[in-house]
Amino acid sequence: MKYWFLFLGVLALAAPLAGETGYDAWLRYAPIDTWVRRGYDTLPVNVVALGDSAIIKTAQAELIRGVRGMSGRTLRAKSSLPNERAIILGTFASLKPVLPASEFPGHLNQDGFVLKAVTLNGFPCLLIAAPNDRGVLYGVFALLSRIARRDSVISLNEVQQPYAPIRWVNQWDNLNGSIERGYAGGSIFFEHGAVRADLTRAADYARLLASIGINGCTINNVNADPRILESDFLPQVARVAEAFRPWGVALSISVDLSSPKVIGGLETFDPRDASVGAWWQSKVDEIYRQIPDFGGFVVKADSEGRLGPSSYGRTHADAANVIARALEPHGGVVFYRAFVYNHHLDWRDPKNDRAKAAYDNFHPLDGKFDNNVLVQIKNGPIDFQVREPASPLFAGLRRTNEAIELQITQEYTGQQRHLCFLPSMWKEVLDFDLHAGVGNTPVKDLAVGRTFHRPLGGFVGVANVGMDINWLGNPLAMANLYGFGRLAWNPNLSDGDIAQEWTRLTFGNDPTVVRTITAMLLASWRIYESYTGPLGAGTLTDILGSHYGPGIESSERNGWGQWHRADHEGVGMDRSAATGTGFVAQYPAPVAKLYESAETTPDELLLFFHRVPYNYRLHSGKTVIQHIYDSHYEGAAQAGDLVQQWSSLNGRIDDERYAAVLAQFDYQAGHAIVWRDAVCNWFSRVSGIADAHGRIGHHPDRIEAEAMRLEGYTPIDVTPEESASGGKAIACEGQAQPCQAKFRFDRPAGWYDLDVQYFDQNNGQSKFRVFIGEQQVDEWIADDHLPATKPGGDSSTRHRITGLALRPGDEIRIEGIPDGAEKAPLDYIEIHVH
Ligand code: GCU
Repeated sequence: MKYWFLFLGVLALAAPLAGETGYDAWLRYAPIDTWVRRGYDTLPVNVVALGDSAIIKTAQAELIRGVRGMSGRTLRAKSSLPNERAIILGTFASLKPVLPASEFPGHLNQDGFVLKAVTLNGFPCLLIAAPNDRGVLYGVFALLSRIARRDSVISLNEVQQPYAPIRWVNQWDNLNGSIERGYAGGSIFFEHGAVRADLTRAADYARLLASIGINGCTINNVNADPRILESDFLPQVARVAEAFRPWGVALSISVDLSSPKVIGGLETFDPRDASVGAWWQSKVDEIYRQIPDFGGFVVKADSEGRLGPSSYGRTHADAANVIARALEPHGGVVFYRAFVYNHHLDWRDPKNDRAKAAYDNFHPLDGKFDNNVLVQIKNGPIDFQVREPASPLFAGLRRTNEAIELQITQEYTGQQRHLCFLPSMWKEVLDFDLHAGVGNTPVKDLAVGRTFHRPLGGFVGVANVGMDINWLGNPLAMANLYGFGRLAWNPNLSDGDIAQEWTRLTFGNDPTVVRTITAMLLASWRIYESYTGPLGAGTLTDILGSHYGPGIESSERNGWGQWHRADHEGVGMDRSAATGTGFVAQYPAPVAKLYESAETTPDELLLFFHRVPYNYRLHSGKTVIQHIYDSHYEGAAQAGDLVQQWSSLNGRIDDERYAAVLAQFDYQAGHAIVWRDAVCNWFSRVSGIADAHGRIGHHPDRIEAEAMRLEGYTPIDVTPEESASGGKAIACEGQAQPCQAKFRFDRPAGWYDLDVQYFDQNNGQSKFRVFIGEQQVDEWIADDHLPATKPGGDSSTRHRITGLALRPGDEIRIEGIPDGAEKAPLDYIEIHVH
């Protein structure tokens, strides 16, 4: 008997899993073969939707859809109570006539819900009830999520309510269809300067958002095109709002403060000018006539070249309030971004500090903003770096509403090509106690308005999903969108709980799959941090361009203010009050005390707050420089291990997503080495201090392309030099094509893996072929979409050929066929024992 079960188990494992694209994300509703055994057949077969609102109807249809997907059974849709058991969906108001008040919880915030077993007309029923329609929809998603994760639904009695009223995403989509800092294709809303004809994706996105409790979405770039407010554009925006409406997602837009002048034809956009106020009022009224549930506006002003109130000597409060007053009668809100700084700072002045800008600009205005304004504050004082301290502004506003802005799109954290599970990072910030003076004051409580009893507050996530089939370009990156929604709903969840929930919903409940992927997610942020930006120095990426590959010096000697100030003597920004920029003094005293001295500052933020010599000893006992070297070697090795961990899931998840993600991990492992080498080379050159383990610049398995015998290929210098091995590469620039690079293998006979490090630009699709003697062993096309038009840290890519039987004396030959501006550039070959 036992063996029979075992056999079935093996069969089940061996059965091919249907390929999945990732489009369904965590809403797969995959079939559950243990439906009856787990008691899910105790669910009533009738789903009664009380009331005829669009959202309640959506909730009913979603429940039927989910149960059908997981069980193959179609529940019966009803609009009144049958003489049978039923699942009843309704608001408290609609349930009043049929259910005694004692069955409802005393108080529940808007969007909260109850899942409860009750008896109605003598029949055992399941109630999904809420103060508002949206809460009912959220209750349905919660029930379906439970089932998909194999949780019990017997004798349910669950009450949930959101931590904050504001749970929004921002999309940085441009009207031409591109997305600022988007890494997953074009906009799902716009193309060619107009709203898309087909908004299926917009509706499906709203469904995803609703399923994790997100209730608002801003659809256009914070660097707003004023045209969005044109009278002939607004009906198009209204179409997007229609697609969102059944899912309870309020639409909002980013606006440019100069709109009254640029599109309104006024002489001014001075927020204190009466004509400007009247213009905003009439524009807002026009919007609400078309979009009655419009959410409001996001404003980026006086920042990175945007116009703002400073043009007229007015304050940010003036600017926010003029718009807020127009929205207020309709219930709309203004998200006024605190991301205001001067990007022409004089880098020679050691007292200058961009980190101080948000607090300096907004703290003096505390109490001056209207009640329907939220100041939207990025989690850290700079800009979504791999590690930053919490922004002191969260504690610096007591009489002003706040929202915390988190970035889901991985602008500075690997752009979805590197695994970086951000809830781990967000948790650290949300739980950080800023000691704002009234007991325990973690950022999450300040941001949602609990600490100072504000009427509004919450979470905004910059999502930037695109037209890619899996929304974010990599199925695993969707864990960040899911995690954002879950934390906005309940910031007390742990990153581990979120990772596990998401994995179960996205890849199924096989314990090995759940254990493996959860562990990978939870390790991933620190892995990414360790091979990129150490000790709070910033991500060390190319600040002036892509924000992707290594660019250690790009942050220095310019006005952008993302300085780490590394030179031959030391590294880090002195932000102390005593000797530095004074940024530390923006924190309440207990926090300021922690960060004021290098001794008490945690290692992971040391270089954010202090400038130290390279031989400064960390709490870990290591010197700063040795930490930089070691963490980069360890991090790159751990990135390599992710490939093995993922490979162990072969056959346990569907082949399509398995293969797509494996390719990403392969790429990440190669690019982590590019990062490691660039950062280590740069710091060893600049500090003049050798690695205690002698690793840097010493690559016994590596053959530099420029040291091979070249035919057609010529050596080129790569800048900055640390972004190519030895500072050089080869390129096929002449007439003779294909170009060849050859060398003789001189190691013992055996099985080997060969890594070819080449550059994959986005301005050509070169072809590479590899030969052992006369036998071609591999070929590929460099057709990835990396943010690069030249050889360097953004384009450097690894191609691995495994399991080659090599013999001493073998000639290994790489043939490169250039295409367009991409000259089949090659950096090196590395040969490892298989
Ligand atoms: C970052 C990002 C910009 C964006 C800005 C913002 O600086 O690189 O593309 O516009 O943040 O948040 O406004």
